[in-house]
Amino acid sequence: MAYYQQPLDVTTLPAWQALLKHRQDMQGFSMREAFADDAKRFERFSMSTSGIFLDYSKNLLSTQTRDLLVGLAREAGLQDAIEALFNGERVNASEGRPALHTALRRPIGDCVRVDGVNVMPDVHRVLNQMTDIVGRIHSNLWRGYSEKAITDVVNIGIGGSFLGPQLVSEALLPFTQHGVRCHYLANIDGSEFHELAAKLNAETTLFIVSSKSFGTLETLKNAQAARTWYLARGGTEEKLYRHFIAVTSNNQAAIEFGIREKNIFPMWDWVGGRYSLWSAIGLPIALAIGMSNFKELLSGAYSMDTHFRSTPFEKNMPVLLALLGVWYGNFWGAQSHAILPYDHYLRNITKHLQQLDMESNGKRVRQDGSPVSTDTGPVIWGGVGCNGQHAYHQLLHQGTQLIPADFIVPVVSYNPVADHHQWLYANCLSQSQALMLGKCRNEAEAELRAKGLPEDEVQRLAPHKVIPGNRPSNTLVLERISPRRLGALVAMYEHKVFVQSVIWGINAFDQWGVELGKELGKGVYQRLTGWDQPPTEDASTQGLIDFFRGRHRG
Ligand code: F6P
Repeated sequence: MAYYQQPLDVTTLPAWQALLKHRQDMQGFSMREAFADDAKRFERFSMSTSGIFLDYSKNLLSTQTRDLLVGLAREAGLQDAIEALFNGERVNASEGRPALHTALRRPIGDCVRVDGVNVMPDVHRVLNQMTDIVGRIHSNLWRGYSEKAITDVVNIGIGGSFLGPQLVSEALLPFTQHGVRCHYLANIDGSEFHELAAKLNAETTLFIVSSKSFGTLETLKNAQAARTWYLARGGTEEKLYRHFIAVTSNNQAAIEFGIREKNIFPMWDWVGGRYSLWSAIGLPIALAIGMSNFKELLSGAYSMDTHFRSTPFEKNMPVLLALLGVWYGNFWGAQSHAILPYDHYLRNITKHLQQLDMESNGKRVRQDGSPVSTDTGPVIWGGVGCNGQHAYHQLLHQGTQLIPADFIVPVVSYNPVADHHQWLYANCLSQSQALMLGKCRNEAEAELRAKGLPEDEVQRLAPHKVIPGNRPSNTLVLERISPRRLGALVAMYEHKVFVQSVIWGINAFDQWGVELGKELGKGVYQRLTGWDQPPTEDASTQGLIDFFRGRHRG
């Protein structure tokens, strides 16, 4: 029997019960004291793998907490689940599919079977197909309708067909090759199209229509708009193949759109959209940084895969981060998790991780359809430091919610300007330090007295100056952003999300929740644009439809 067919209420496990008890014991735990008492706390709770150093010592945990959490992972059958994932079992039960993004970064000699067929030759055939087109575009052999070389590539796609490629191609800007500019067109918003099109020349622009399903409204509408734009600027139907290529698992729909079959890069149904940047969906990445760098990205992810699959849980980076997330979400009431990159190039990582985590673990029933008995995925939010320090960090420091945070920072900057990077790094560290240390009432009062304030002022202001501290964070340090390290970092978060899904017994690889809005959208559209539709079910939506129609009448 596959592991996911066994209904498991994680809250009934002995390890869960032990953690509940331990949580009570930890009520008075102070990180400040833990550091004071244990000179080796940093060494005890830090590790590195695949070019990433993780400090998780600023957490509400002791070695006993770690042992209990690792025990929970064992009792939840995590090792079997990991093997099921890597071996191509149908871990996506509701869609009856494997989730084999890890196969996309494995060496060609490996064998991964889906329905008895080894998929690795196909994976590497597509990599070769990518190498071919990247080479032709970079060497100006691929030309537009007027024989000019391609200068701009526009990726038309949304969700996983956008966020991962955008994160990576922009994070690896220092690795850009051959001057091909990459752009992303995602939303069905004329302003986005208008602003982008204004920068482009139809003669030298290549559009990648990137959609696993080739059925996503936003993508298809943008692809049609791009085609109309191209034809209105001297492009011809005969030369359309030079300007439009596709990445999809729905060949037929792409062909009907007018894309030549040999310009269609395949996707497989065993790769989920949010896990697909390693496939041909990563073509804009490869066009930006070159194929050898793209392969470095894959090898970094493969290194993390190997670590994840073979390292004992107590030293396993994605497992530890996942278990810490479970600890805070299920035992401390945390509802959200902040991702705080201190690096301009990583500024889009929060958006990618939002989809990765929230679309994967935003679930309320287990793999077998039974309701979960605990909270599942947190809200993922955040943004680039230091900017957040002057905005939402106030809530992290003094708000009423416990919000664990991941700080991500490189040691070396690609663009040293004066002592900017020293200050950037210092700010990253001082934020996690402030979250952990806080400022107690005595310290707040002493500070105010030192400023010479009268005692009644000291007492009036002190409560506002108190910062509770004891707020958890992880710090992930990369020596420098590189394709390998970025590949490892993104793969690490993929595995973290998977581990949590296993603990909760949910399916990380479907996303039925997004479908209802799409279905209802059709009815709303008809009512906005047609005059003979019956009113919709609720007065609120109908009122808002009428508002729009009133404005657009005649
Ligand atoms: O609507 C959600 C979703 O299906 C995501 O899971 C996916 O990444 C995105 O839309 C885009 O899908 P596609 O690649 O099929 O256009």
